[in-house]
Amino acid sequence: MIQVKRLRHLALTVTDMERQLAYYRDIIGLAEIGREAGRAFLASEAGQLSIVLEQGGVAGLARLGFDLPADGDIAAAERALVAAGMPAERCTDVAPGCPVALRSRDADGRAIELHVAFHGYENRLPLPGIAPLKLGHVACFSPDPAATADFFTGQLGFRVSDWIEDRFVFLRCNHEHHTVNFTRGPDARMHHMAFELRDAGHMHRAADILGGQKVPILWGPVRHGPGHNVAMYHRDPEGNAIELFHGLDCMTDEALGFWDPRPWHRDRPQRPKTWVGLPRDVWGLPPSQAFLEMHRLQLPEEKG
Ligand SMILES: [Fe+2]
Repeated sequence: MIQVKRLRHLALTVTDMERQLAYYRDIIGLAEIGREAGRAFLASEAGQLSIVLEQGGVAGLARLGFDLPADGDIAAAERALVAAGMPAERCTDVAPGCPVALRSRDADGRAIELHVAFHGYENRLPLPGIAPLKLGHVACFSPDPAATADFFTGQLGFRVSDWIEDRFVFLRCNHEHHTVNFTRGPDARMHHMAFELRDAGHMHRAADILGGQKVPILWGPVRHGPGHNVAMYHRDPEGNAIELFHGLDCMTDEALGFWDPRPWHRDRPQRPKTWVGLPRDVWGLPPSQAFLEMHRLQLPEEKG
């Protein structure tokens, strides 16, 4: 079976390239490592390609890029996708540091890319802006979250971490609680994407940067229930919801079957489970009306 190991990057369709590039470079704090006709490539301070901006007509998620093991067998992955009835188009040099990729689609028709033999960007200077550790996870709507979870577990090697009732699933592909989430909705649009910060001090600095740029903070900081990450949300200039987080649950040893113990866990040990009822968050105020209105098709209590 294909074993996805981590999220590499997201490709976003943007309607105003210069505005979005300025936000992801100067406020989020990513390095512009490449530019070609209608596309811009941005990497984290740690040198990892994180965001690809692609000029287009409707702002939103264009593609999810995942890493297979660095020495992964791309031909075997191609065979596995074809055997599952999925498209598999082998590509080369799709982005800086991404010499070989397979392009396919998930159960909702969302475009995905699987990468092997990747390498980092040789950035050695601190970056201005928030400068997150990495792109951490992406949450999307799905008409059938259970079927999408079956695809990600059955075809791409993910494991189910938590459910919120029967409508919001958190999936992991490594020790971190979630790399992809799916919440019930009418189509496959992105719900939010999330950058990982180092700690509470980094979160405080991020809030100061957003405040200084007059970017409204729409929710948080709050410590969530599922994943127990401390999270804070705002929007990018084209309306994509952006989460900044730290302190996500980890399962260092899968054989134990529970998250590394933390003082704020209510269950001891804290195992993967289905969360029912409110409140789920450990602390923090409920989402603002502005946050809820970002996802008008969402039920008021839905979040991630
Ligand atoms: Fe999230």
